[in-house]
Amino acid sequence: MAGHSTYEPQNAGAKWLERRLPVLSLVHGSFVAFPTPKNLNYWWTFGGIAFFVLVVQLITGIVLVMHYTPNDALAFASVEHIMRDVNYGWLMRYLHSNGASMFFFAVYIHIFRGMYYGSYKEPRELAWILGVLLFFLMVLTAFMGYVLPWGQMSLWGATVITNLFSAVPVVGEAITTWLWGGFAVGNPTLNRFFSLHYLLPFVILGVVMLHIWAFHVAGNNNPVGVDPKSEKDTVPFHPYYTLKDLFAIVVFMILFSWFVFYLPNYLGHADNYIPANPMVTPAHIVPEWFLLPFYAILRAITFDVGPIPSKLGGVIAMGGAIAILFVLPWLDTSKVRSANYRPVYRFFFWLFFFTTIMLGWLGSKPAEQPYIAWIQFFTVLYFAHFLIVLPVLGLIETPRKVPDSINDAVLGKSSDAA
Ligand code: HEM
Repeated sequence: MAGHSTYEPQNAGAKWLERRLPVLSLVHGSFVAFPTPKNLNYWWTFGGIAFFVLVVQLITGIVLVMHYTPNDALAFASVEHIMRDVNYGWLMRYLHSNGASMFFFAVYIHIFRGMYYGSYKEPRELAWILGVLLFFLMVLTAFMGYVLPWGQMSLWGATVITNLFSAVPVVGEAITTWLWGGFAVGNPTLNRFFSLHYLLPFVILGVVMLHIWAFHVAGNNNPVGVDPKSEKDTVPFHPYYTLKDLFAIVVFMILFSWFVFYLPNYLGHADNYIPANPMVTPAHIVPEWFLLPFYAILRAITFDVGPIPSKLGGVIAMGGAIAILFVLPWLDTSKVRSANYRPVYRFFFWLFFFTTIMLGWLGSKPAEQPYIAWIQFFTVLYFAHFLIVLPVLGLIETPRKVPDSINDAVLGKSSDAA
């Protein structure tokens, strides 16, 4: 990773390794000496927090697999066995199921941080794009993980979402049958979801490495949004940010523990403690909270759009809601990165934040009026933010004066910096 390493191996072992495979200097250059803007606030700790939760998910997941059985006749019972018989099985399972929520919570804050401070702008577009890819992989992984306990919500959630593929013209039905490995969600589906749910987190880990590499080439963005110009603007990553990240992780663990030990089923759905039954459809089929905004957008299109039937329209809207994030760096026309210096953008940023919260809330409601009308209203706001507000605002907004350097901003040399 980038950053000129000043690393000098201190002992014979390190010297031996350094000549053959310079991993120590790589780590030193990337996570010890790495010049980091000295003004990063706590919103910059959420990347590290997300990484921490990813590691928790990997470790607890590997332990769970030692006792879980991916078979439609045994899966539900094997999860109950983990909960009741396996030593600390309940802890592994609650850490893993609540960990998924914690992961999305941290990554959502991480994404909004990027949007507020313009971290996606030149030259960090690729770090952003890899981030959106990570988010997409997380959605897939979480969706497939939720199917594994083989409760009612597992089966019916999987049925609703896989059925969406049947909206694809001509080949839709064939794709759905192929995905299921049969004519309904069943044992072959459970098996392949288990296989992919185990594989994808390691793919995520690999993409995280690329993600970190990508923003290390340009260096971190920061709350002021101007790049470091001299040594006065930066501090070494260690100990300044290793300790700050560690502190933030410990605080985050308090929230995490609160859910695991006091509200372990609060974020889940009671119906998933009923074994999967293809003969009984639950009254309301809802995904986990972190997928609700997208579930709402899926249901926004209640009418045919020309030759596009409403179901396909919903699928396109939902896919588009994630896909549009990939091109965000090119939709925002403003040269100023940080919202601190863009008062009008700041208003629209909070409006967008509110829009996503409302879509999440509406996604949990039954598909009936007046909810559908509100979903349609907020879906329009969601897309308008990217397609109208960001391109136009950069051309007409007058930003406040941006400080000349990070150091000036920190020392309050610009009145705007405060
Ligand atoms: C598995 C999930 C992810 C992990 C583990 C992760 C990790 C990190 C870490 C450790 C950093 C540096 C610290 C920080 O800025 O907070 C970072 C920076 C960044 N991340 Fe992520 N990230 C993830 C997902 C995402 C997503 C979903 C996006 C956007 C859609 C994203 C966009 C960015 C950007 C633009 C930066 C550069 C920020 C800067 O330089 O200030 N990341 N990420």
